[in-house]
Amino acid sequence: MPEFRIEVAHDIAGCAATVALQEETWSGDVIVPPQLMLAVVHNGGFVACGYAAEDPVPAGFVFGFLGIHDYHFRHHSHMLAVRDPYRGSGLAQQLKEAQRDHCLDQGIEIVAWTMDPLEARNARFNFGKLGAYTRTYHRDFYGAMPDKLNQGLPSDRIYVEWPIGHDRTYKRLRGEDRAPALEDAEREGIAYLLRADGDRPGSSGGSRAAPRSSAPSAKATPPWSSSARPMAEARTCSCPNLVPGMRGQSPCEKQVKASRGRSPCET
Ligand SMILES: CC(C)(COP(=O)(O)OP(=O)(O)OC[C@H]1O[C@@H](n2cnc3c(N)ncnc32)[C@H](O)[C@@H]1OP(=O)(O)O)[C@@H](O)C(=O)NCCC(=O)NCCS
Repeated sequence: MPEFRIEVAHDIAGCAATVALQEETWSGDVIVPPQLMLAVVHNGGFVACGYAAEDPVPAGFVFGFLGIHDYHFRHHSHMLAVRDPYRGSGLAQQLKEAQRDHCLDQGIEIVAWTMDPLEARNARFNFGKLGAYTRTYHRDFYGAMPDKLNQGLPSDRIYVEWPIGHDRTYKRLRGEDRAPALEDAEREGIAYLLRADGDRPGSSGGSRAAPRSSAPSAKATPPWSSSARPMAEARTCSCPNLVPGMRGQSPCEKQVKASRGRSPCET
């Protein structure tokens, strides 16, 4: 396993170092200009690159900015990427921990971001490894996205919240807290989850666990009306931190998207 050096960006060179990796990961259409990143850094935001020894090109980076949500300051993490050869190396977690430390120093206790709900790897990373949770599902959050990975698909996003000051998060990052199993979620009455069957969505957990009697039918019109809705659908067993008691149908029309590989998660 390679060792990484985390370099926090304080100048334009540090911010510009992310550009090639942004392009490689998402294509040039969704690039955040380094000048904007630097302005963000000068106003409480955070940019850091991770470098492997003797490799001058960043192996990964993270970028986020200061925000306000429900009257409280929080950090919105807009981008996280690790170059293909370095995936599975622990660098992604190291970058998130550097971001966490920056935020804790500022007295901020929640880091949030949006995640493509059909990205099983990102779900495993966010919920299973980081110990984040979600309560909100945004339909077509960014509207049409022109980049190579999102073109022609609705940009549905889960809003992920990471309680960085919480003891459970601390323990999860140290491997001292187990991510809840799908069975735990099903016991809570979440009957709509789909089990992955290799690379394909598997059968619904509906036959295994009856929904709570107080929960409305999965086919009922949702009672909420804004575009920000409570979490209502998920594709695989990789999101064990869904809020119990909510329900919905699987996004069958988008299952084709699930097999396509990467997409921006924190954009
Ligand atoms: C998301 C990203 C930064 C994570 O970095 P990474 O090095 O791949 O992350 P890790 O390997 O530490 O964690 C991913 C986990 O998902 C698992 N995983 C991989 N593919 C999976 C799949 N298809 N289904 C479920 N889990 C999967 C991995 O095994 C790993 O879990 P483990 O360590 O318990 O085995 C990186 O994949 C990336 O740059 N993706 C493209 C950009 C992106 O989507 N950015 C937004 C990130 S939220």
